Amino acid sequence: MDLSGKVAIVAGGSMGIGRAVAMLLAQKGANVVVADLNEEGGLETLKGIRSNGGDGMFIQVDVTDWEDITQLVSQTLKLFRKIDILFSSVGVYARARLIDTDEILWDRIMQINVKSAFLLCKAVIPEMVRNQGGSIILSSSSVGWHDSAPNIAAYATSKFAITGLTKSVACEHLTDHIRANCICPGPTDTPMIRGGRSPEELEAFVGSIPIKRLAAPEEIAQAVLFLASDESAYITGVAFPVDGGQTAFV
Ligand SMILES: NC(=O)c1ccc[n+]([C@@H]2O[C@H](COP(=O)([O-])OP(=O)(O)OC[C@H]3O[C@@H](n4cnc5c(N)ncnc54)[C@H](O)[C@@H]3O)[C@@H](O)[C@H]2O)c1
Repeated sequence: MDLSGKVAIVAGGSMGIGRAVAMLLAQKGANVVVADLNEEGGLETLKGIRSNGGDGMFIQVDVTDWEDITQLVSQTLKLFRKIDILFSSVGVYARARLIDTDEILWDRIMQINVKSAFLLCKAVIPEMVRNQGGSIILSSSSVGWHDSAPNIAAYATSKFAITGLTKSVACEHLTDHIRANCICPGPTDTPMIRGGRSPEELEAFVGSIPIKRLAAPEEIAQAVLFLASDESAYITGVAFPVDGGQTAFV
């Protein structure tokens, strides 16, 4: 798959799945704009892109803030003149039963996981319409496509919302040649999945996964590359599981 001449924004590209996607899209020839709150991680991603011979830039952005997002779009256009691909990896995870979830936690998860995707789409779609094409890939989850589990009411709700948003964008822009899909990763080895778990807890968690291992972020990135590329030209409105059979096993 060749992305030469394409321009991609990777929101949440400072670590985890976002970093793996930013590196892979750049390796396949895209100019990659890494957008994240985390400057240190974002510059590290950019360094990786450049040391592999790729090109891109880092912009520090809070993707829940409309002003920041309009800056992201205008700076991308200034440097690269168009936007072909948007991938958002931005998300936060929290474990709490619904009855223990307070409004502050609920609003935070909806703000970061859902509002950010809405604002990013709202900002890039007019540019994609002008450009007569584009591919948007959002991040849902295996729990946002198929099932849920105890103690993740807010997170699961936010990920089902991403699936709905994806399908809505796909329907509204079919004739603009803009495609919108989301990936639904299973448990993936990133700071998000390791955070707050002791080595023993992580081992027990991995043992509970049908395939008995975490996904590597690079494996998730391959699915994003396919959805970003012209090879998936007839695929839109899809929630794409990349979960090692997890949801098949439920
Ligand atoms: N890791 C998993 O097991 C897994 C499984 C299913 C779905 N997902 C989803 O995939 C996506 C990526 O997951 P990950 O594990 O790589 O996460 P991660 O925590 O490793 O990375 C998330 C990135 O988002 C950035 N970010 C958070 N809030 C931001 C904001 N307001 N503005 C800009 N950037 C912000 C962080 O700085 C970070 O770089 C998430 O949406 C997550 O819900 C992850």
